[in-house]
Amino acid sequence: MYKIENHPILDLPKEEYVEFQFEGRTVRGQKGKTIAAALHQAGLIVHSHSTTGRNRSLECGIGKCGACEMLVDGQVRRICITSVDGVKEVREIPKDYLPEGKAPAIRETKIYKTTVAIIGGGPAGLACREQLTALGIPNIVVDNNATEGGQFNMQTHQFFFFEKEQKFGGMRGFDIAKTLAGDNHDGILLNNTVWDLLEGRRIALKNIVTQEVSYIDADHLVVATGAVPFMPVFENDDVPGVYTAGGVPEDDEPGAHPAG
Ligand code: FES
Repeated sequence: MYKIENHPILDLPKEEYVEFQFEGRTVRGQKGKTIAAALHQAGLIVHSHSTTGRNRSLECGIGKCGACEMLVDGQVRRICITSVDGVKEVREIPKDYLPEGKAPAIRETKIYKTTVAIIGGGPAGLACREQLTALGIPNIVVDNNATEGGQFNMQTHQFFFFEKEQKFGGMRGFDIAKTLAGDNHDGILLNNTVWDLLEGRRIALKNIVTQEVSYIDADHLVVATGAVPFMPVFENDDVPGVYTAGGVPEDDEPGAHPAG
């Protein structure tokens, strides 16, 4: 594995490092980057084992498949989307692992009320938000990533298909991602995943960082989640080094680890 030190287009962020323990050894990871990036950078690409003992690693690299789940400070987490910040220990989930089953602390549950709930804070969801807001229609956007823009955050090439709208023509994908949400990010709930649609037009959310559960009561729902990567099943599809194409640009961010 190697690390991108210079990039022709992107500014490299100032690097700060943190350390955590992995199976008895200390691993250094770049602040703000994922545990998966830190482990790959350290050459530690085996994160679990199959029932027959075969080495396993990441698959999608973008938080969609669950192949990378490990115990992070005692909690099951997807390491391809979990930042190293504040992490003390990462280890493989033991075969006989059972969660402790502690009852979660009872907290007051937030209930947001709005007219339109938009699931997905990528280009489609944010464009929908822009239109609704211009029409004065209250809305809330939910996205499970830490930043708005969805997959556009990984696109370094220039887009031309917006030229028809005279909007964003020629801009690079990650710049469009920054621009889409505008300056006011009120009403965008990041790090939140939708885990159920309940009766009474209620949407259940879980914050994947704080584990906090909340609800949105909305009259209308827009699903703007884009495409989920197709993950073909084939023999040895889970061995280290076999990743979906979606995982490569994600890990290809400056300071992360190109897979391969
Ligand atoms: S969810 Fe992490 S590799 Fe797919």
